[in-house]
Amino acid sequence: MKVLFYAAKIYDKRSFDPLIPRFEGVEVDYIDPELEPRTATLAKGYDAICAFVSADVGAKTLEILKECGVKTVLMRCAGFNNVDIEKAKELGITVKRVPGYSPESVAELAMALALAVNRRLYKAYNKVRENDYSLKGLRGVNFYQKTAGIVGTGKIGAAMCRICKGFGMRVIAYDVYQNPSLKDFVEYVSFDELLAQSDLISLHCPLMDSTYHMINIESIKKMKDGVILVNTSRGALVDTNELIEGIRLKKFLGVGLDVYEEEAGNVYEDRSDDIMEHSVTARLLAFPNVMITSHQGFYTMEALAAIAETTLQNLVDAEKGIRTDNDVA
Ligand code: NAI
Repeated sequence: MKVLFYAAKIYDKRSFDPLIPRFEGVEVDYIDPELEPRTATLAKGYDAICAFVSADVGAKTLEILKECGVKTVLMRCAGFNNVDIEKAKELGITVKRVPGYSPESVAELAMALALAVNRRLYKAYNKVRENDYSLKGLRGVNFYQKTAGIVGTGKIGAAMCRICKGFGMRVIAYDVYQNPSLKDFVEYVSFDELLAQSDLISLHCPLMDSTYHMINIESIKKMKDGVILVNTSRGALVDTNELIEGIRLKKFLGVGLDVYEEEAGNVYEDRSDDIMEHSVTARLLAFPNVMITSHQGFYTMEALAAIAETTLQNLVDAEKGIRTDNDVA
């Protein structure tokens, strides 16, 4: 079974290579280019390809992969909004992903972002480095006894609920399904009630038609003044231009984003010498109450090990025609 890893980074090699000998018959090649229609032809001769969050696994790419003889697409991540699932089904390409590899890795980053924007840690760090020990611009609020509103209470959202509970917060949530494991300490409310009551809003639902731009100027206006918003899920849950409008209305104490709409060309690239063509991200970064990280929620030792293990098992399962909960097509 030959598998081609697109957009492979050194940490991918480090987490996958030690495990490969345990999966008999699996051969892996790592390449730098991202998967998109132009690079899909590189998969000729491979049984499977492995892609990540920024890949373009749309209809055109899938058609080319099919022509190249690829039978399986392995997503080494939980989200699969960048895959045209219907097209994959139509072409008979199996698509597997890694759901819930380490929910805490993402939830802990969500809380880290919430704390960092609340207490302006990025600013405090730089101030002290410059011998500025004043407190100007650093005042935050306690989370203790405040209300955390968690949108999406699957694996990551549930972990975030537990963390917020640990901080002594009241935890409310909105989801289309209620998670029974949370019934002792989470109160489910409508989306509008969550917006109106929360001091901290953290997004943990997948990107779908029904969740696209769920945070827009209308929903922002329903939030409390001085709310903290954190998005570690997918960028397009938030309408960036309308978020900027909301920030200018002084709605937010802080905004922490591990994901944002324009991230595709940036994620895991060093663009420090580039003159950025698009200004939306730059505009966001100009606000003192915004902190952006580059899709690093999954980036812990534990999560990487779990991703590698499950992805290789997914490959073996696909080869044997075994369908599991990890199948999305
Ligand atoms: P999950 O599938 O366990 O949970 C998703 C939850 O969202 C489910 O409870 C589902 O019912 C709920 N949901 C679906 N539609 C909804 C709607 N319209 N409104 C509210 N809730 C809705 O997924 P998991 O593992 O918790 O991951 C959540 C998301 O986190 C993923 O879809 C992915 O986009 C993102 N993620 C981000 C990472 C990062 O590095 N920043 C890493 C891993 C995942």
